[in-house]
Amino acid sequence: MMNVYCSGKGRTLAESIMGDTFLPFSKPSINPDDIHAVNEVLRSGWITTGSKSAEFEKKFCDYTDSPNAVALTSATAGMHLVLKAFGIGQGDEVITPSMTWVSTVNLITMAGATPVFADIDKDTLMMNRESVEKCLSEKVKMIIPVHFAGAPAQMDSLQKIAEKHKIAIVEDAAHALGTQYKNIKIGSQGTSIFSFHPIKNITTGEGGMLCSDDDTLIEKIQRLKFHGLGMDSFDRISHGRLPQAEVLEPGYKYNFPDILAALGISQLSRINTFNKKREALALHYLELLNEVEEIIPLKLPEEDAKHSWHLFVVRLDIGKAGMSRDQFMEDLKKNNIGTGLHFKAVHLHRYYKNNLNIAPGSLINTEWNSKRILSLPLFPDMTHKDAGRVVNVIKKVLKK
Ligand SMILES: Cc1ncc(COP(=O)(O)O)c(C=O)c1O
Repeated sequence: MMNVYCSGKGRTLAESIMGDTFLPFSKPSINPDDIHAVNEVLRSGWITTGSKSAEFEKKFCDYTDSPNAVALTSATAGMHLVLKAFGIGQGDEVITPSMTWVSTVNLITMAGATPVFADIDKDTLMMNRESVEKCLSEKVKMIIPVHFAGAPAQMDSLQKIAEKHKIAIVEDAAHALGTQYKNIKIGSQGTSIFSFHPIKNITTGEGGMLCSDDDTLIEKIQRLKFHGLGMDSFDRISHGRLPQAEVLEPGYKYNFPDILAALGISQLSRINTFNKKREALALHYLELLNEVEEIIPLKLPEEDAKHSWHLFVVRLDIGKAGMSRDQFMEDLKKNNIGTGLHFKAVHLHRYYKNNLNIAPGSLINTEWNSKRILSLPLFPDMTHKDAGRVVNVIKKVLKK
C-alpha cells in the first residue's frame, strides 16, 4: 500500500490520524556503512569464516583489552563450547542466577549437569558472595555470573570463592560490551562471553564472542567450534594447505561467517557513540522517573564501574500501581510503547518448575523481581523526546 505523507512532518496520514507511532523496546542501529561493509563481503567471493572474522576478533581484542577472542554464531554457542571444554557433565553442579536468559540453564541441563540457582541482590539483580556461598558443594564445578543489563557483577568476591574452592568462573557478558568493573574492562581478564543478538549494544544479526586469557581453553574452543578439526575452512582452502583435515576430537559447527563479521567490524567502530547515547537516555529516564513512585529503577553501580546500559530495567510497585506488571505492559503496548521482560526467572518456566525441586520462596529476591520487572525502550536511535513520551504514557497508564 502506498504511504500518504502529511506535509512537513514526515509522518504518514495514517500515523497523523492514529496518533504516535509504536516505539519498540529495542531496534538495531544500522547505517549505510554497515550495509556497504556487508555488500563488499557478498561481492568478494568469500562469505563464510575468513579474513573478516579474523579482523573482527582482532578489533574486539583491541576494544576489550582481551588477549584472545573467538567469534561464534551466538553467545549460547560460546557457553555450550565452554561447558564442553571444562568437561561439565553428569553429577556436576553449576551455580548461576535464575534471573538470566534460559540458554545457560538449558545448556547446563542438556550437558547432564544440575543448575544450582544463587539468589540475586534485590536491587542489582546479580548474585553476590553470600548467595553463591550458600550454593557451594563438592559437586560445583563452575560459577556463571551475569553482568546484568550492562552493570558489572561483583567479580572480586566471586573470584575469591572460585579460587578458594578451585571452581571455574565464566562470565556471562551478553549484556556487557563496554562495561567496566573497578575500571577494568569486562573481557580483559578471565573468560567472558558476549552476544551480538539484534537488541545488544552491537549486533551482527546473531553472533557471539568468547574472550579468554586462558590459552589452553582458547585452543580447545578453536577446535570444538569447527567439527574438531583444529582449523577453519579458510585455512583449509585459502592457505594452500591440503583440504584433508583430521578430526582431533568431535566438535560442533559454530564458526562465524565473514558476512556477519563485516557488520560486526562496522558496528564495533561506533560502540562508544552507541554506549554514550544509551547512557544519556538512561540518565534522562532516571530524572523523569524520579517523580513516579510506582516505578523502582535498579541500583546504580559503584563509581569505579562503567555501565554499558544494555537495558533500562525497572520494577513496578504492584501495590501502589494497583495492577499487575503484565497488565501494565499491556497498557503501555495499547499506548504504542513496547517493553521487554528480562527476565522471567528460569526456575519458574514450566519445564524447570516440573523438573527441579525448588521450593517456592527459596529464591526470594529472584521471585520478587520476576513478578515486577520490565525493560523500557532503550536504543541509540531513539531520542530524549521518545523517552519523555514513554514516561508520559507511564503516568497516563498509572492515572497520575
Ligand atoms: C544474559 C544472557 N545470556 C546469554 C544470552 C544468549 O545470547 P545469544 O542470543 O547470543 O545466544 C542472552 C541473550 O539475550 C542473554 O541475555
